[in-house]
Amino acid sequence: MHFEMIITVDGPAAAGKGTLSQKLADKYGLAYFDTGMVYRAVGLMMLKQSLDLNDADLAKKMAEQLTFAKMMELSLDKEFRSSVGGQAASIVSSYSSVRSQLLDMQRNFAKNPTFADGTPANGVIYDGRDTGTVICPHANIKFFITASSEVRAKRRYDEFVQKGMNVQLDDVLKDVKARDERDANRKDAPMKPADDAIILDTSDLSIEEVFQKAVAFIEEKLK
Ligand code: C5P
Repeated sequence: MHFEMIITVDGPAAAGKGTLSQKLADKYGLAYFDTGMVYRAVGLMMLKQSLDLNDADLAKKMAEQLTFAKMMELSLDKEFRSSVGGQAASIVSSYSSVRSQLLDMQRNFAKNPTFADGTPANGVIYDGRDTGTVICPHANIKFFITASSEVRAKRRYDEFVQKGMNVQLDDVLKDVKARDERDANRKDAPMKPADDAIILDTSDLSIEEVFQKAVAFIEEKLK
């Protein structure tokens, strides 16, 4: 590949964005940025200091202090991927001031794409809610991955159970719906597919089927 490829994968919580992005990153030699991490990091900084998540000014202050290295360090914390961590991320991500503060960190990642060990990558794959619309509107290929809320809740529930977490399916479904609501109704950058995004409903598809469909689109585009 002689040009720098940028792929974006957006969509609601637990639609399978992360799994697809990781597989595409491996196949095409792309550096991967899971952009939900920036909001999870800010949410966790607040939780750790017992700060009020409803205080947008404090959330912005935390966002100002966030660096890429700090985000990677926080990602090792067990609360980072927990349901409480996800809810905190969802709340802080609804503040415009937090979103604009974290824009550059996300955009800069595509400027000089490298893997964690410093070797150069063929490009970048972003996953999130607004990566094809706001972070990287000039991306070469954009996907919007979705699935019914019931299917997504079941997938997230299975993940939690596999990690040994004690959760109820009903609570996970409520959480998925609450996060969808916040993502859809955010004043700033509400979640919606980019006009040029390929929309994939994964409700009835296996991980491998989703991957093969995405690869077929990419190969067509690269011709
Ligand atoms: O994808 P993940 O569950 O890690 O995202 C955590 C939260 O961050 C989501 O609930 C979503 O509200 C928010 N988010 C966002 N914009 C992104 C990525 C995530 O608002 N690009």
